Amino acid sequence: MNKKIYIKTFGCQMNEYDSNRIFDTVKEIGFSKTENLNDTNCFLLNTCHIRDKAKEKVYHEIGRVKKNFKSKKKPLVIVAGCVAQAENEEMLKREPYIDIVIGPQAYHKINDKIEEYLNKQKKIEETEFDAISKFDYLGKIKNSASKVSSYLTVQEGCDKFCHFCVVPFTRGPEYSRPFNKIIHEARTLSENGVREIILLGQNVNAYNNQRYRLSNLILEIEKIPEIKRIRYTTSHPSDMSEDLINVYKNSKKLMPLVHLPVQSGSDKILKLMNRKHLISDYIKIYEKLKTINPKIQFSSDFIVAYPGEDERDFEATYDLIKNIEFVNSFSFIFSPRPGTKASTFKLIDEKISLMRLKKIQTALFDNQISMNKSLENNEIDVLVENKIDGGDKFFGRSEYMTSVIFNGSLDDVGKVIKVKVNKSNQNTLFGENMSKSELRVA
Ligand code: SAM
Ligand code: SF4
Ligand code: F3S
Repeated sequence: MNKKIYIKTFGCQMNEYDSNRIFDTVKEIGFSKTENLNDTNCFLLNTCHIRDKAKEKVYHEIGRVKKNFKSKKKPLVIVAGCVAQAENEEMLKREPYIDIVIGPQAYHKINDKIEEYLNKQKKIEETEFDAISKFDYLGKIKNSASKVSSYLTVQEGCDKFCHFCVVPFTRGPEYSRPFNKIIHEARTLSENGVREIILLGQNVNAYNNQRYRLSNLILEIEKIPEIKRIRYTTSHPSDMSEDLINVYKNSKKLMPLVHLPVQSGSDKILKLMNRKHLISDYIKIYEKLKTINPKIQFSSDFIVAYPGEDERDFEATYDLIKNIEFVNSFSFIFSPRPGTKASTFKLIDEKISLMRLKKIQTALFDNQISMNKSLENNEIDVLVENKIDGGDKFFGRSEYMTSVIFNGSLDDVGKVIKVKVNKSNQNTLFGENMSKSELRVA
């Protein structure tokens, strides 16, 4: 049989990393990747459970596949990721079209599970938490990611148990991968052509393996000459240690955008969320980093209409957004997640929730628009990622992760070039490749 797998991924960056590693794994038993659903004999859905109707979205997606294959041979259907972990064998009962359910800490066993299923034709559920043997296994197979900007998971799981969040239940306890294995993977990525590494963890700045911290990882990866840029996500304010703050003094490759979720501007709400920090702690981090480098910008995640949030609490979040001038941020209405403490709390009226979301999103978008506008007529550094499909323009990112579109050549891909910004909107900068014109003049 010609084995072809179609992988669809929902959720965060870690799920994207996982999907790539799942492919690196199934390749070992002869699978190749397809982007064409009609052409596949294995459909894998990597799922996310963080908000809203996550579960329903998964069944809907499986329903679509079922319809697509109505008059054809059924593919092998695998559900992986955080919904798989949370729902486990319930999924097999509710949707018999699913053959294998496999959790995020068990996917290194996927080849055995596929073969077991093919031999016995018996449904399989595998949701053990076993991060150590997972990363042990993944360290032995080559990471084939080769995009200019690629993810590298260094830490997984969470012990913080914010009252709204499902992640500690779906990803399990905190686990930090061994330092040497991460550096080895970073070198492999650079050999594949990767030029920007984004270090990932549910609490990436809680990274702690023997004597190594996230700061050590950044400074070591920085020594790989081909790597031009380093980023990390997502961090927690209470793990923003002095050594990590100081890396912003010493590093030449760590980008000046700090993604540091604050969730709310009100200490009362932070306490109800079990966030374990105060707004004053957050401001202190902000001030220290701005003193080190005034060019540093902050991005964040916000939850509005958390149970108990009154007008004053909400205004505190709004004021914080105005004061810190966050860029590139995410905001959500609180969504009760099954099994979490906050799922039993009384919800805020939907109309009020929507109004609050709209108000803070407008403030966040205004920050973004003025930040982008302030770059017009200036030259900025852009890491060139790819040529845009079907056009002659190129795509890259600024130091602050903003998309940039400009004229270029295939030679520029993977390089940091100077782009003069001519025009901007909320999400994108448009410009002219100055490195090229200099070349032409010479
Ligand atoms: N570990 C990160 C942290 O400490 O902030 C975030 C992890 S989570 C994948 C990403 C974001 O989703 C969170 O920062 C939060 O804003 C949002 N989120 C998580 N649970 C949520 C919920 N129940 N309702 C709404 N938003 C939620
Ligand atoms: Fe979820 Fe909180 Fe852990 Fe982040 S720190 S993953 S929000 S429980
Ligand atoms: Fe979603 Fe799991 Fe990531 S719930 S956000 S895929 S850790």
